[in-house]
Amino acid sequence: MKILVLGATGNVGRNFIQQSNGKGHTIDAVVRKPVTTEGINYIQGNVLDAGVLIDILTKGNYDAVVNLLGGGLAKSTVLTDSTRLVADALSGKSSIRYVGISVLTLMPKTIPGHITAFILSNTFLRHVDRDHHGALESLKSSTLDWTMVACGQIVEGAGGAVLKRADKFTGGYRQIQMGDVAKEIWRELELPEHHKCAFGAWTVKG
Ligand SMILES: NC(=O)c1ccc[n+]([C@@H]2O[C@H](COP(=O)([O-])OP(=O)(O)OC[C@H]3O[C@@H](n4cnc5c(N)ncnc54)[C@H](OP(=O)(O)O)[C@@H]3O)[C@@H](O)[C@H]2O)c1
Repeated sequence: MKILVLGATGNVGRNFIQQSNGKGHTIDAVVRKPVTTEGINYIQGNVLDAGVLIDILTKGNYDAVVNLLGGGLAKSTVLTDSTRLVADALSGKSSIRYVGISVLTLMPKTIPGHITAFILSNTFLRHVDRDHHGALESLKSSTLDWTMVACGQIVEGAGGAVLKRADKFTGGYRQIQMGDVAKEIWRELELPEHHKCAFGAWTVKG
């Protein structure tokens, strides 16, 4: 596969790039600061520069786009904006796979899930929550074959934990290692199971 990665320098992004080693895919990654990793073609540029991103997407002939961007806890619209640009640039191309990370609150929810989501959307996480919901709206109206891996708190760790995968958020605190988030994204690229939806993945405590 030829894959374009956005957010390759972040916590999950670095794990995703590390796990690409030996998989045999061609990977381009748009980054703000210069980075080098053997086997990865880094393209320096700003993902929010519409001209730059659209040019990369339209000329790149990609099979998949992986969006691992995030604006931290600040009032950022990096995900909303980048997702809309990707969806617009690839409009009509239904075979292109889009896999991103998201938050548990945008999954379908049980009643306890709705209560947790309501509480979180009124805390310091509210800007993150809004940015992810903005991205979801662009995906829902796009022609892309999209999947969001929805996460609770992402913690340090190379991965390998036993995971629960769920179609509904049932509320409460959940966590997942950054290495496991990267693995879930790779799984959805190589053996897609979820289409046009967000599914949750979290560590099962032993
Ligand atoms: N942390 C959690 O507990 C948690 C839980 C659920 C979901 N998530 C979501 O998971 C995603 C990834 O999280 P993470 O912890 O890996 O994020 P992170 O370490 O903060 O990385 C963010 C990435 O986005 C890039 N970025 C941010 N603003 C940008 C901009 N304006 N233009 C270009 N690149 C920009 C950063 O590039 P630079 O290196 O150049 O800054 C970096 O590569 C985020 O969307 C986050 O909301 C996180």
